[in-house]
Amino acid sequence: MRNQFETVRELYAKNVIPSYGRFDLVLSHGVGSHVFDVSGRRYLDLGGGIAVCSLGHAHRAITEALAEQSKKLIHVSNLYFTEPQGRLAAELIQHIAPGKVFFSNSGAEANEGLFKLARKFGHDEGRFEVLTAVNSFHGRTLAGIAATGQDKVKKGFEPIMPGFRHIPYNDLAAARAALSPTTAAIMIEGVQGEGGVTPATPEYLLGLRALCDEKKLLLLMDGVQDGYFRTGQFQSFQRILEGVPGGEKFLPDCISMAKSLGGGFPIGAFWVRAPYQDLLGPGTHASTFGGTPLACAVALKILEVVRAEKLADNARHLGAWLKQELARLAASYPHVIKNVRGLGFIIGFELAPDIAKLPGDPARLQSARFVDLLHAAGLLAIPAGANVLRLLPPLNLRREDAAEGIAIIESVVKKLA
Ligand SMILES: Cc1ncc(COP(=O)(O)O)c(C=O)c1O
Repeated sequence: MRNQFETVRELYAKNVIPSYGRFDLVLSHGVGSHVFDVSGRRYLDLGGGIAVCSLGHAHRAITEALAEQSKKLIHVSNLYFTEPQGRLAAELIQHIAPGKVFFSNSGAEANEGLFKLARKFGHDEGRFEVLTAVNSFHGRTLAGIAATGQDKVKKGFEPIMPGFRHIPYNDLAAARAALSPTTAAIMIEGVQGEGGVTPATPEYLLGLRALCDEKKLLLLMDGVQDGYFRTGQFQSFQRILEGVPGGEKFLPDCISMAKSLGGGFPIGAFWVRAPYQDLLGPGTHASTFGGTPLACAVALKILEVVRAEKLADNARHLGAWLKQELARLAASYPHVIKNVRGLGFIIGFELAPDIAKLPGDPARLQSARFVDLLHAAGLLAIPAGANVLRLLPPLNLRREDAAEGIAIIESVVKKLA
């Protein structure tokens, strides 16, 4: 008799467009920071669905909010007002600064809205160009791949949408030199996620703000992956600029969000600072499913839990502990782990360039082969590029789960040393 694993694999092979490189796991359910495959095997999920499962799996607050709101109103369209959308916008603004919010369904869609806003902003002066960073990631739509500073996402989809150019990250002089008369905005991630977990320096953030002020450009921040309390603050720039002179005055003009906001229920959003908050007037932008009462009720409930349980502090402190433990492994096994980067619960560890004992097809990336070993040892983590592994755990990760994660990683690293 065929097992469930083979059956599901076959359903995908026959029916699902093969656009993803999937790992050989068929997952069926989860609880807290653990998930189970169809054979009942348990895995510690330190990937968090790529920074999405902010409260882990099967959290009661989420399932109850979904159930309660679905009994009242799931969707009515944005032709009408609903309370949860208005309340959620107000809550998000409270964590940033005066402005307004638009709701979407995904990170790419949130960024699309910001690209449109940048074009509207520059339109009457003939400015439309958005500069983004080398190694950035901004989504898989046509504008998203044009904005993303990685060739691999663009290949085969030419001609690439005009209006985007890439600048080296953390290089202020390069940003200034790249400006053209048509530049309208600069977009960056506070911590590059897909690009390998690289935080912006405080000088870069402050310098970009000054440059954008001087040249009348919008400073857009993509907070889709690194945002939502993951670094210990609501947005990563707030964490990066802690205690930095002048840092308290820093504000981008717009921020995109998604992923953790809905804990797994799809919701995205972008915040626009007060002076530009009404640029997208009636009829200029829309999304059928953007900000449904159901999505917003779930997001409101998650915010409540994050606050009540001080999960930003948890991400900050337990993240520091994870990073410290990984640094210990890097010091003990430098031929396996080269270095460790990140803030709070967005952590990357870079593998040494050629790990001789790493099994698997050498044609596959080292990071993917390392993840295979972690899976075999009972842990989910996310590759970022060829040599970096990412940990993006639930914000409510427990100390014992973090310790389990380090023990598993150490067991894998030891075998490769
Ligand atoms: C920084 C960043 N921006 C945008 C996106 C795209 O988000 P989505 O996959 O929800 O469209 C991602 C996804 O990984 C991301 O990490």
